[in-house]
Amino acid sequence: MDLKELFTGTKQLVGLDIGSSSLKLAEIVSTSHGHILNRFLQMPVPLGIIVDGVLEDASALSAIIKELFRNSGCKGKGIVISLSGSSVIVKKVTLAQMEEADLRDLIRDEAGKYLPFDNMDDVNYDFQILGDNEHNPSQMDIIIVAAKKTDVDGYLDAVTAAGLTVAIMDVDSFALETMYEANYAFEDNEIIVIVNIGANLTNINVIKGGMSIFTRDFNVAGNAITEGLQKKYHVSADEAERMKTEGVPGGEPGNMDLINAILDCADPICSEIERSIDYFRSTFGGDDIKHVYLSGGSSRVVGLKSHLSQRLNIETELINPLLKIEYNKKNIDTEKLDSIKTIGAVAIGLGLRKTGDK
Ligand SMILES: Nc1ncnc2c1ncn2[C@@H]1O[C@H](COP(=O)(O)OP(=O)(O)OP(=O)(O)O)[C@@H](O)[C@H]1O
Ligand SMILES: [Mg+2]
Repeated sequence: MDLKELFTGTKQLVGLDIGSSSLKLAEIVSTSHGHILNRFLQMPVPLGIIVDGVLEDASALSAIIKELFRNSGCKGKGIVISLSGSSVIVKKVTLAQMEEADLRDLIRDEAGKYLPFDNMDDVNYDFQILGDNEHNPSQMDIIIVAAKKTDVDGYLDAVTAAGLTVAIMDVDSFALETMYEANYAFEDNEIIVIVNIGANLTNINVIKGGMSIFTRDFNVAGNAITEGLQKKYHVSADEAERMKTEGVPGGEPGNMDLINAILDCADPICSEIERSIDYFRSTFGGDDIKHVYLSGGSSRVVGLKSHLSQRLNIETELINPLLKIEYNKKNIDTEKLDSIKTIGAVAIGLGLRKTGDK
């Protein structure tokens, strides 16, 4: 790669994944040779700031965002953030073919029909036309994304107070789709599932031919494992967290009890994943799922990958958001790569977005 190009390449917006356990920042530079991850930073978020997907303390979050950006050296002020979990609803609907302007009016007047909100005045929404309906070409498939204004405003305020501008408000599952598209080759009809298991939230995203066709988020993830260990071993939350993330060195035989206990505590997560995939299979005609890709901090639970693979009977592997995307060795420590691959999928997907995108 030509170094000069690194500076002349288009600097896109900076992706900021606001997770309940940590913030992840990804700055991507696009060149004629492809994308380069120029910067990646993570900063912990203390407990209590985002609880069950709800922002409880916007000013504390703002201070962390500010510090993260100061440490990052990013010059751009335009950022891309995302909503997930209960704060956002993604709904696919099929309507008669019409002009976009008419569709906009129709959705304004009738969105309440499709969305579980009592008062649409309290809701921000947007839509995108996916294309002709597969079974009936006189109809088209549309995806509606909606979020309560209060939820959106909390995050906007936190970012604005940090001196930054939200250029795009995305959704976690779409960011995963963007990241997947930039890294993986796929056939038109190929179905894969990305399962992003974080601290509070697990996000399931079924992608067919590079397009998200089914998403589901649920509030059971890594925190549930920590809580389970806390109860089982009568230890503090910090101790349980340490046992979970460090207490299993290389699968030593002596530690099989702990490994099994961790997997037991992960059972509710696995069951929900299985239920969602069963639901998808029964609703969408049981098409073959080629791969499950795991992402998120909790995808590192020892034995989880093979356990899930067996339960779902689908080949399962860890996702690699840097499969095709290069990284800037001057700014990013090679030792951090494994961690970036695990926790960086959403932030990288957000960082790939350009101004003017929809
Ligand atoms: N080696 C490890 N083994 C098991 N769990 C781990 C490991 N490393 C991190 N985790 C867990 O991963 C979770 C954090 O993952 P991630 O950064 O993807 O979540 P987040 O984006 O902050 O949260 P969310 O998206 O749920 O709000 C925590 O629950 C943490 O305990
Ligand atoms: Mg997350």
